[in-house]
Amino acid sequence: MAGVTNTVFRRLCKAKGADVLTTEFVSAEGILHRNARTQYYLDFHEEERPLGVQLFGGEPERLARAARAVIDWVRPDFLDLNFGCPVNKVVCKNGGSALLRDCPLLARVAQAVVKAADPVPVTAKIRIGWDRNSINAEETARILEESGVRRIAVHGRTKEQGYSGEADWAVIAQVAAAVKIPVIGNGDIAGADDVLNRRRETGVAGVMIGRAAMSHPWIFSEIRAALENGEIPPPPSPVEKWKFICAHCAAEIAWRGDEIMAMRSMRSRLMAYTRGMPGGARLRERLSHVGSLAELEDIAALHGESQTVGTIPA
Ligand SMILES: Cc1cc2nc3c(=O)[nH]c(=O)nc-3n(C[C@H](O)[C@H](O)[C@H](O)COP(=O)(O)O)c2cc1C
Repeated sequence: MAGVTNTVFRRLCKAKGADVLTTEFVSAEGILHRNARTQYYLDFHEEERPLGVQLFGGEPERLARAARAVIDWVRPDFLDLNFGCPVNKVVCKNGGSALLRDCPLLARVAQAVVKAADPVPVTAKIRIGWDRNSINAEETARILEESGVRRIAVHGRTKEQGYSGEADWAVIAQVAAAVKIPVIGNGDIAGADDVLNRRRETGVAGVMIGRAAMSHPWIFSEIRAALENGEIPPPPSPVEKWKFICAHCAAEIAWRGDEIMAMRSMRSRLMAYTRGMPGGARLRERLSHVGSLAELEDIAALHGESQTVGTIPA
């Protein structure tokens, strides 16, 4: 997820039980120009493997060159093609979900990247269609399968929906039945129960988790426990949550080597972590200005303990 799943956060998700990780989307042009921002997106540790680099772009030749270049550059375990991004800046250059409206171009992109990446596997992420009058996920998935893509993640919304409404898992199930390659379902998974239900109902080979991990990365260990022994562990205590949040900030500071910049970049993440926590508005107000780890630790001490004994700090 753009702006979220950098190497620091991915490692935390992995430690919590995530199986397969992917970088945020990276433009083919950024790779070909080897700009500093792209280097930041591509940074990862060995412990994150198997790790995929997600690429976006709209020109088969450029994407194929970028695929080869990024494989030589950082040696990912697989490449993932983004055919789902709904953001206009990306779509107007024929990237992301724009290709859902142009299946011949989507096929050329997939074929070119599969050929250039060989023997590194290529996967793809799609949405169910451009809008509700043009739902074409089955067709898209078949084209991708024929093009040599090895796995497809399907976000059960259309481009027009953005992130609104609900993911349509009936369409995801149709895609899973339509192709032989594994299909990963994505959209609105909020807990281990959802995973058990979706797997039973839809025939997906796996699930992909987005937003829920931002506020509750424990979701991965809960799912793992539910799949392994049918029991979901109790949620982390407030003290455990705050410990994790502070550790995330500390790791971000270590990675960036600049406390002020790291804490600034963590502010939106702190908002996600504290969603639904007692003390809401006031806590979030303080977090929106937090400038150092020491300051965060003070807030954590106050809130972790007060939540444990059931009071809300003023
Ligand atoms: C902040 C944010 C950034 C995202 N960036 C990407 C991205 O770079 N690549 C991608 O394939 N999907 C991206 N997504 C979409 C998610 O991967 C996922 O498909 C979507 O949020 C639905 O899943 P969820 O309901 O589990 O969140 C992003 C979503 C959010 C909220």
